[in-house]
Amino acid sequence: MIRMEICGAQIGFAITGSFCTIEKAFRQIQNLMDAGAVVCPILSFHAAAMDTRFITAEDLNRRLGELTGRSAIKSIAEAEPIGPKKPFDLVMVLPCTGNTTAKIASGITDTPVAMAVKAQLRNERPVLIALSTNDGLSANAKNIGALLNVKHIYFAPFYQDDPVQKPRSLLFHDEMILPAAREALCGRQIQPVLHR
Ligand SMILES: Cc1cc2nc3c(=O)[nH]c(=O)nc-3n(C[C@H](O)[C@H](O)[C@H](O)COP(=O)(O)O)c2cc1C
Repeated sequence: MIRMEICGAQIGFAITGSFCTIEKAFRQIQNLMDAGAVVCPILSFHAAAMDTRFITAEDLNRRLGELTGRSAIKSIAEAEPIGPKKPFDLVMVLPCTGNTTAKIASGITDTPVAMAVKAQLRNERPVLIALSTNDGLSANAKNIGALLNVKHIYFAPFYQDDPVQKPRSLLFHDEMILPAAREALCGRQIQPVLHR
């Protein structure tokens, strides 16, 4: 049975290597939990292991564990049972890198996040993508276009976060995440998709 509201929903929250938006991801996890969702983190290999100027891998893993009280899914083997066991009403990818966007659009399944998305789609259950990539209006535009046309994939509203300095960059809209998740749980794409 598909759950239609955030309260009580089981959400697989997938984080990929857009490290400048990690704090936004933490805030969205908190918002979902405050709304009554049960959140299980899923990390791409790079998100789980890379030390960057924004956060160390150790801090990221520790803070996620403290926030959710769950150990993250961090391998393809751990993500694969999402198919047969159907634990999630919704899988969200927030932030979703250009790299992961391209993999999902191309059917490449070589990271835990790509595996989680593939397994969720196998069950015809919703996936919500929250873009954060500097090539959204260049190399990845075709992949975003392809995914906009895929059943059970929904997009958090996104916008050009810095049209002057980074004219090809797209970023999800913070304040639209909860409403977008609610709509995706109901099998609907929130509108408008392009939102500032
Ligand atoms: C500090 C830092 C910030 C990054 N920010 C982004 C970003 O915002 N968006 C993006 O698409 N890639 C970003 N990248 C590049 C990705 O981490 C890289 O493409 C990686 O292969 C993504 O793998 P994943 O999608 O499996 O997590 C960043 C890399 C570093 C080191």
